[in-house]
Amino acid sequence: MPWVRGLVVVGLAAGLGLAGPVVVAGAGDRAGVGVAQDVPLRDLAAERGVRIGSAATVEELRDGEYAAVSAREFDMLTPGNDMKWDATEPARGVFSFERGDAVVEAARAAGQQVRGHTLVWHSQLPGWLTEGDFSAVELDGIMRHHIAEVAGHYRGEVYAWDVVNEPFNEDGSLRDTLWTRAFGVDYVATALRAAREADPGAKLYVNDYNVEGLNAKSDALYELARDLVAAGVPLDGVGLQGHLIVGAVPGGIRENIERFAALGLDVAITELDIRMGLPVTAEKLATQAEDYRAVVEACLAVSRCVSVTTWGFTDRYSWIPDHFPGEGAALLFDEDLRPKPAYDAVHQAFGGGGAPVEGCRVGYRVTHSWSTGFSGEVVVTNVSGRPVSGWILEWDFPSGQRIDHGWNAVFSQEGTAVRARDEGWNATIGVGGSVTVGFTARHAGSNEAPVSFRLNSAGCDG
Ligand code: XIL
Repeated sequence: MPWVRGLVVVGLAAGLGLAGPVVVAGAGDRAGVGVAQDVPLRDLAAERGVRIGSAATVEELRDGEYAAVSAREFDMLTPGNDMKWDATEPARGVFSFERGDAVVEAARAAGQQVRGHTLVWHSQLPGWLTEGDFSAVELDGIMRHHIAEVAGHYRGEVYAWDVVNEPFNEDGSLRDTLWTRAFGVDYVATALRAAREADPGAKLYVNDYNVEGLNAKSDALYELARDLVAAGVPLDGVGLQGHLIVGAVPGGIRENIERFAALGLDVAITELDIRMGLPVTAEKLATQAEDYRAVVEACLAVSRCVSVTTWGFTDRYSWIPDHFPGEGAALLFDEDLRPKPAYDAVHQAFGGGGAPVEGCRVGYRVTHSWSTGFSGEVVVTNVSGRPVSGWILEWDFPSGQRIDHGWNAVFSQEGTAVRARDEGWNATIGVGGSVTVGFTARHAGSNEAPVSFRLNSAGCDG
């Protein structure tokens, strides 16, 4: 597994600090190909002024190979389950922080910030709370106590809290929960104020799903945020979870982020995953890559969009197959921790070149020649064991040959160095797949064949 080889594989108390210096040159297009191949996402994101996070549970972090990739690629960590109510207050007034603490410790060791998740939600509540038949007065005390204890315990250790999670129905009405039954919408402000008191330094968020684009639900979230801000309630940001479906990413994500930013709020993509119906196909992976690219680009387009967090990062561990039968493969790395085309797309959206392609084979041949020139063809085959999304093929002409005209790639040449970049439509090369590029060129008498080729900066076999 070349991607992981070379990393120190360590457990929970990983001593992996920040990775090496940022070497990426240009940002925005694929100029980074050739220089930024093994730059982790976190370094690219930092260059763009945003954080890139992932969710993990304490069990997942015990997988050393997983922990190493998490530490290498991400600069923020969300506990997937370990700070939820059922984990932190399993019995009334009895608090349990070992699991949450272990996630915080892993984040600290990896130089990552923590997004606390989540204080007030309707789900993953302990039985004593859901079955307690409490009065509104009792629930008010229970909620305040929980927030004071949990946010107080992590005071100074979390960068942000999802204080309230999933308050709305799809039509924008308030979700019917034990909180709304007792307090209506007022529980949101109460929770935010209590969280501010418990940890004045944490950014306080309301977080929900299906609020990424413009729709009734995101309108409702917008109106709530607007009202809270107007009333001086301590709200710092909104979280757009981003549990999306391949090929069905909503439009209007940038516009939606912009309207929250215009309220003076931060916006975070907090739980991004883009699922597909199984089985996985090369085509679905390619669509998924473009879907991820679109979401990251929408965030990068708005300066108040401060972070992108994916809900896990490898298909080895994901909530999707358990909760959406028949669906899966929603994340950036496959089950063997190999980067998927979606990883390349996110890497490229942040200004990098995509993951290294360690395995390509090239066939070069002159198809026609005449006294002053020739036409040539290069067939590149992906033998890297993973699909490639976005490529640049490079070679040097030994006899000063000059490209006049090319096809199936965008050609450029500086001196003897030729670059052929994908045309978009042929950006994906599946496992074992090939692309053929062609050109016409001039020469001054001799026409020696190139001796080596590089695909996304990694050398290819002839
Ligand atoms: C999920 C966890 O990943 C699963 O392990 C658990 O069984 C259910 O919850 N929205 C959220 C997250 O805010 O807390 C959810 O996490 C996924 C949907």
